[in-house]
Amino acid sequence: MQGSAADVPSTPRPATGRLGIITPGLGAVATTFMAGVESVRRGHAQPIGSLTQMATIRLGKRTENRSPLIKEFVPLAELDDIVFGAWDPIADDAYTAAKKAGVLEDRDLEPIKDFLSAIVPMPAVFENKYVTRINGTNVKKGKTKRDLAEQLRQDIRDFKTRNKCDRVVIVWCASTEIYIKPGPKHATLEQFERAMENNDEEIAPSMLYAYAAIMEGVPFCNGAPNLSVDIPALVQLANERGVPISGKDFKTGQTWMKTVIAPGLKARMLGLAGWYSTNILGNRDGEVLDDPASFKTKEESKLSVLHTILQPEIYPDLYKGFSHVVRINYYPPRGDNKEGWDNIDIVGWMGYPMQIKVNFLCRDSILAAPIVLDLALFSDFAQRAGLKGIQEWLSFYYKSPMTAPGLQPEHDLFIQQTKLKNTLRHLMGEEQITHLGLEYYQS
Ligand SMILES: NC(=O)c1ccc[n+]([C@@H]2O[C@H](COP(=O)([O-])OP(=O)(O)OC[C@H]3O[C@@H](n4cnc5c(N)ncnc54)[C@H](O)[C@@H]3O)[C@@H](O)[C@H]2O)c1
Repeated sequence: MQGSAADVPSTPRPATGRLGIITPGLGAVATTFMAGVESVRRGHAQPIGSLTQMATIRLGKRTENRSPLIKEFVPLAELDDIVFGAWDPIADDAYTAAKKAGVLEDRDLEPIKDFLSAIVPMPAVFENKYVTRINGTNVKKGKTKRDLAEQLRQDIRDFKTRNKCDRVVIVWCASTEIYIKPGPKHATLEQFERAMENNDEEIAPSMLYAYAAIMEGVPFCNGAPNLSVDIPALVQLANERGVPISGKDFKTGQTWMKTVIAPGLKARMLGLAGWYSTNILGNRDGEVLDDPASFKTKEESKLSVLHTILQPEIYPDLYKGFSHVVRINYYPPRGDNKEGWDNIDIVGWMGYPMQIKVNFLCRDSILAAPIVLDLALFSDFAQRAGLKGIQEWLSFYYKSPMTAPGLQPEHDLFIQQTKLKNTLRHLMGEEQITHLGLEYYQS
């Protein structure tokens, strides 16, 4: 059974004690996330972009005027109860890594230098073969991939004891690995474990983190497009062990925009001839994605979105054969401040062409950081609510949402948002909101 709400026990367990959030990867996204949470805790910043901290949820009828904050409605861990950890093949502490990432300004980093300097990454499971543009020395050694996974499990246990954590969540914030096709080695747990013992190259480091997390009963969220936890063997393991999992690839800049605009076009039955997207970015993620093998993983993730939203098989007259091109160019002067251009060729009444141009000057890690926080807090909540396996209600946060086998992912941001909120209502014993609203007009 997937993590459906149907098999949920009555009341979610409260969020008592401390929650550890460990990120494989202590780069731009992870350090921006950690620095942001600490700044909010100290009253220096607001958690803008985070649903768990800022969004409300309507309950009951519109006439009831009940719209509490999500965090007051659902028992989520408090920011003050969070402890951070990380793994990274580069040994820089979070302060040094944040300085190098160049996302946050000194005026935001200096006041929390003590806090950031104390976050030192544990040695990573890392192989240059899977992320060719990174070289690091803070790396674990082991005879087999299984040994390495066992070392990660030990790290999780030690982290929990050292920091007196009640619970832990892991969010993958590490580099995008090269493209790996799901195959027989990923099909069942037995095959996966044998492949780990044989050091099979189909088993990427990210899969070892996911395996270690699930074995330790720790929810795992995958912020990158690499398969990681999205393989049948690990989905099976998560279901057996009662662990929530989700992925893939944080939905930030351009794809987020696509999942806002494309549903709008389709809602109005406007056609699409083509969508050309190009980006320049100069951070380390951009450098990693400059490698064609890592870019292919990202491209797969970015391309699927439009097709699924527009459904050309159902609407051939509007969407059959539209051209969709995505480019990412590494351009160092920009640092983390990505610039994306979209040229959208749309088609209207009687076939007349029109164009939409979007020029999005975004800050990648500023958009990703609140997503890391929400995924961690919601996944921890999901576990306390008795959910397990794939958490499709968290699709809202992902470019390539994981789903049950054979199920098309839902990409439309607004359907995803409704699903997320309805799941929270359901878990807390509140009525679903369908927006039918006929009762307001019945005398
Ligand atoms: N920022 C965004 O908007 C966004 C959106 C979607 C996805 N992502 C993904 O999030 C990830 C992080 O992005 P970033 O900008 O922080 O990149 P980054 O390069 O700044 O940081 C990634 C870190 O991961 C480390 N790393 C690589 N392999 C590792 C391993 N096996 N174990 C532990 N650490 C490892 C690297 O040394 C590096 O410090 C990337 O995969 C990126 O594609 C980012």
